[in-house]
Amino acid sequence: MIYKKQYGHPFDTESVVGSFSPMPETIPHLTKEPDGFSYTMDPQDILYGLGENIRGINKRGWLYESKCSDDPNHTESKSSLYGAYNFMIVSGKDTFGFFIDFPGKVTFDCGYTDLDTLRVTIAEENYDLYIIEGESLTDIVRQFRQLVGRSYIPPKWAFGNTQSRWSYMSADEVREVAANYRANHIPLDAVVLDIDYMERYKDFTVDAQRFPHFADFAAEMKAQGIRLVPIIDAGVKIEDGYPVYEEGLQNGYFCTNQDGTPFVAGVWPGRVHFPDMLNPQARAWFGDQYKFLLDQGIEGFWNDMNEPALFYSEETLKKTFAKIEEYSKQNLDISSFFAFTGMVAGLSNNENDYTLFYHNTKQGRVRHDKVHNLFGYNMTRAAGEAFDRLAPDKRILLYSRSACIGMHRYGGIWTGDNQSWWSHILLALHMMPSLNMCGFLYEGPDIGGFGSNTTEDLLLRWYGLGIFSPLLRNHSANGTRRQEPYRFKNKAAFAGILQLRYLLLPYLYSEYMKAALHDGMYCMPLAFAFPQDAFARQVEDEVMIGESLLIAPVYEQNARGRYVYLPEEMLQVRVKCAEGNRIETSVLPAGHHYIPVALTEVVFFVRKGHMLPLAKGGRDIQTVADVDFADLRLFAYAPNGAAYTYYTDDGEIKDYDNPAHFVHITLDAQGAAQSDRAAVKVEAAPAPLG
Ligand code: GLC
Repeated sequence: MIYKKQYGHPFDTESVVGSFSPMPETIPHLTKEPDGFSYTMDPQDILYGLGENIRGINKRGWLYESKCSDDPNHTESKSSLYGAYNFMIVSGKDTFGFFIDFPGKVTFDCGYTDLDTLRVTIAEENYDLYIIEGESLTDIVRQFRQLVGRSYIPPKWAFGNTQSRWSYMSADEVREVAANYRANHIPLDAVVLDIDYMERYKDFTVDAQRFPHFADFAAEMKAQGIRLVPIIDAGVKIEDGYPVYEEGLQNGYFCTNQDGTPFVAGVWPGRVHFPDMLNPQARAWFGDQYKFLLDQGIEGFWNDMNEPALFYSEETLKKTFAKIEEYSKQNLDISSFFAFTGMVAGLSNNENDYTLFYHNTKQGRVRHDKVHNLFGYNMTRAAGEAFDRLAPDKRILLYSRSACIGMHRYGGIWTGDNQSWWSHILLALHMMPSLNMCGFLYEGPDIGGFGSNTTEDLLLRWYGLGIFSPLLRNHSANGTRRQEPYRFKNKAAFAGILQLRYLLLPYLYSEYMKAALHDGMYCMPLAFAFPQDAFARQVEDEVMIGESLLIAPVYEQNARGRYVYLPEEMLQVRVKCAEGNRIETSVLPAGHHYIPVALTEVVFFVRKGHMLPLAKGGRDIQTVADVDFADLRLFAYAPNGAAYTYYTDDGEIKDYDNPAHFVHITLDAQGAAQSDRAAVKVEAAPAPLG
């Protein structure tokens, strides 16, 4: 059951598309406060939600803010990252979900001020409150997801391995990356193009010197089974003769200052204007620009800097220079020196700058800070809606950095500028189920870490988690140590671990599709799958991937293994990635176990009575297209048999709900396998994999 109550005159975020009932006279569960709500928590209560955020799966004990922020330091001390995900579930003495549909700042004080009090503060008394009651945690999530609409579904190739780096400076450099992958039998489906493919960082341009004959280059890479995925930034460079700038200016499609002139900010190309993503005409126009790249054979994009990030606003920069003039004449002392450095450091993403510009929306002219969290959402919507017009039947890959609930219908996200830190493997794991709850199923971190220098062991361990996330992308910042897997010593292990991803793809893709089509979770906390298990409720470093699989990645340097909690008897599967993915299995009882995991191994656990439909093949699999999704080995822990609903489609078009895509597969206690579609061949899997 979903109840809604409206307070004041909310801005319509268009996040909600489903149905609900009016709120009863007395709001259930929450207590109304002048500026929001409160809830008194029981010591055992758990708070789930808030999407991509810092800290644990259980959000208790910290203060979080929904305020899309470009912050490359994802430390525990922060309170917001790139997106705004105002959905939470309280689980404990009372269990319910709530969603605050509001485009400005919302604060979730989850026991920070008072250990036992959840306090939600909303910047204005203009919002919609939804309360969701259900039979279980998964039921609450399902209802919420029906309310906000079906999650984005990428093309199947987008479940393949992606290599990225900020600083692939030329087509030849990309060719070299692809060649190294192929030479080392490490599968690869896509190479991401960061800002360096553009001409002077101008959106929808390609540098003709460094990336000549771009359409031919895209075709050449595709012939090797590798898609190019270019970046698009939010800011449009101010440059006479640049058609995107000139058209936007002529049509009044940019965000404006209070006096109506276009607002100027600085990002990669220097001075830019921000397209008014909240203006439907401007949004359609910006979306149409993607055609320039679609026409050259591009099938996937990532949208960046769309909080929107700004290095400076012209206005604040001017004031800063004037003040520096003043300071230059002073004897800088304890207060003036720190005021001076703080002022310069505070130029970027300055909160005051977000109050300086305006949007022309369907609902009138609105100052940006009041609708701040909708910008990245609507940039991605611009692209998603344009793809529906320009290539209606085709699935196009799209993911964004900034997001807000609602955007999950148009694209996925990557989790922004993490670091090559061990703690960020665990953080990536924490984000997965929290994002899934909010509808963001297609997501993944920068594997290996974006900022700072990676190490080989970190990268191997990171892939141990990364091969289970829908977006599997190694990305790093300009100036950091290069981290393509073939650069390291254990090439066979990297090849094995990434081949394992492809062997798992029939299962992972099937679980993704079922989650998307039925408003389920591809990845969930143990507590969602084992709600009666008091210990499972506390587990913060293991998650379920689909219905059959429990993963418990190693996330500490020099660890030779880790403790794993199994809520029930499971099959332990040890994959020796450096030895052609040879596997060893053993049955483990429910409880706590110390599990050794060598650096070149991946260990996962299969639930009793469940199976994994796996692909056949090994070194010959180099792309998703090499995987035969209709010739499966059923890898199961099924002493009494097992049944599985397998989803399979061509992965390119959008006839998602066609019943022919759902295949009923069974395995009996004697190991005889059957599928109810002749087109899908199944057999019980003998070890080894690969
Ligand atoms: C931002 C993105 C990062 C990208 C860089 C350059 O920091 O988050 O992924 O590499 O910009 O475009």
